[in-house]
Amino acid sequence: MGARILGTGRSVPGKTVTNAELERLVKTSDEWIVQRTGIRTRHLLDDGDVPSDMGVEAGLRAIEAAALEPSAVDLLVVATTFPDMICPGTAAFVAQGLGLGDVPFFDLKAGCTGFVYALGVADALVRAGLCRHPLVLGFEALSRVTDWADRQTCVLFGDGAGAVVLAAGDDRSGVLGTALYGDAEKSLLLHMPSGGTRAPASVETVEAREHFIKMEGSGVFRSAAPMMEKATRNALSSASLALEDVDWIIPHQANVRIIDALIRRLGVDPDRVITNLDRVANTSAASIPIALDEAVRDGTIQAGDVVALTGFGAGVTYGAVIVRI
Ligand code: ACO
Repeated sequence: MGARILGTGRSVPGKTVTNAELERLVKTSDEWIVQRTGIRTRHLLDDGDVPSDMGVEAGLRAIEAAALEPSAVDLLVVATTFPDMICPGTAAFVAQGLGLGDVPFFDLKAGCTGFVYALGVADALVRAGLCRHPLVLGFEALSRVTDWADRQTCVLFGDGAGAVVLAAGDDRSGVLGTALYGDAEKSLLLHMPSGGTRAPASVETVEAREHFIKMEGSGVFRSAAPMMEKATRNALSSASLALEDVDWIIPHQANVRIIDALIRRLGVDPDRVITNLDRVANTSAASIPIALDEAVRDGTIQAGDVVALTGFGAGVTYGAVIVRI
């Protein structure tokens, strides 16, 4: 049996920023942002906040919800596109904050699909008997890499972390199917030109604002819904399930128009699709586990429900995981 979700958790910064506040930074309007994206507010880190603290908090909440102690965690996977430091990454700081001792940890970089990829990887490791209680996080501090002078991107993003603790499944619950994909021909649709080894940080790269996210919005927009549709259908077929068997779909929370297009393509009831991007915006790899935790804690998702998690992101990567809670 695949891994089941024992507990979920999330953490978002306390600071909330409205569309009206962004109107003071760039030439935009609440009306434009709501109409084109569905986003109304986002949570952003304050100056001086340590990003990985969100991961520690989300992880602790998931461990508590699983009725475990941190010492029970035997693997930590942090899905993140923008870690605290390029080296050693965010997992090291989360492991330190949780006091995980000699437990193995690593960052997994698959853009906004990161959490879906990480769940697929952790499930495979549980199935192989290589770990019993992996902690899987989706984590992102996008405000630190957003160009606050670029109106095309700065209205889209939020910060946050979401987490799940897994255990070996039984015949009633667990990961039922997984479908992961990539399309590297689209690798520059969303990227950060400098700060890596290809173009290390220099005065020139900083002056050219190359340490911020660059995005081809319409290219991302066109690819997203077909990719999530393909992944969802194929993950369901790998689980020998049909769309009618799914109680809830949690898509990556990038843009309400992308989610609407996915709903149309799948032909599903919009009431079965969970969204929270109006309040938290696009938190990249954190968006799916944050929405999952909200829905579990408010009782929307109940034990026994079949949930389809599907995402797309920088890389380009896309995928879906079907799980019975
Ligand atoms: N406020 C006001 N006007 C704006 C803003 C803004 N914040 N941003 C762009 N515009 C303008 C443009 O300059 C353009 O003006 P012009 O016609 O005078 O040139 C006009 O609005 C239309 O711009 P488009 O880019 O065509 O607008 P579109 O309807 O495509 O919406 C958006 C742009 C919201 C970025 C859309 O393309 C989108 O959502 N793309 C997906 C991007 C996404 O989800 N990214 C998430 C990160 S990737 C990920 O999560 C994996």
